[in-house]
Amino acid sequence: MDTKKKKLVFLTGAGMSAESGIRTFRDSNGLWENYPVMDVASADGFARNPKLVHQFYNMRRADLLKAEPNEGHRLVAQLEKDYDVYVITQNVDNLHERAGSSKIIHLHGELMKVRALDDESKVYELKAGAIETTPETIIDGHHVRPHIVFFQEAVPMIEPAIEIVQQADIIVVIGTSLVVYPAASLLNFASPTAQLFYIDPNPAIVPSRVTVIKKGASEGMKELIERL
Ligand code: OAD
Repeated sequence: MDTKKKKLVFLTGAGMSAESGIRTFRDSNGLWENYPVMDVASADGFARNPKLVHQFYNMRRADLLKAEPNEGHRLVAQLEKDYDVYVITQNVDNLHERAGSSKIIHLHGELMKVRALDDESKVYELKAGAIETTPETIIDGHHVRPHIVFFQEAVPMIEPAIEIVQQADIIVVIGTSLVVYPAASLLNFASPTAQLFYIDPNPAIVPSRVTVIKKGASEGMKELIERL
């Protein structure tokens, strides 16, 4: 850890990528309005109809390949010049990586990766030309599944995320409805002296010590940088 720089932690959700053209989950016309979440993003749904779940994530990958990081992602990455920046994201896209952020924790998995059904330690990155998988797909001798944390499954990265949040000098939440746990509970682990911000055009209710910037990710990031 860089001892000279302040530790700045971003907790991001689907709203972070909205300006890149990736649909959020719970806004109007959000993904969960069009696809029953328990069919396409739960452990039971995958057991019931794996073909449908593969198809859903194939479509999400096709959307991601058409998308570019937005100004908000880029400003988060640029802050590494002055701060020890960590990104803890609920997003499964790779837009923080492509914008240049270097320390990223994906709480809910990664869209461009799949893993072996019979050995979860075997994770494979999909190439841009081969993003479609089915229950029949075999990679390296294994049937695979999306490298996504389904509802009803544990969130293995929550422990390292809590440790990072506990040590943060500044925490900035961006673009999340704060309804999915345990991600939504991370803010509770902030130190009493940490400065807290929340950028969202339609923010959830948060404790009064959090400074709310009621704007989209890009404009909100510009305002944040003026305030830091
Ligand atoms: P939601 O769809 O629940 O919330 C999106 C948030 O983004 C809302 O608070 C919007 O107001 C905000 N928003 C919309 N446009 C924005 C913009 N331009 N800039 C900033 N914010 C904007 O998405 P999440 O909170 O990320 O999990 O959802 C959490 C989890 O639920 C996801 O990771 C996903 C989903 O089920 C899994 O699939 C495992």
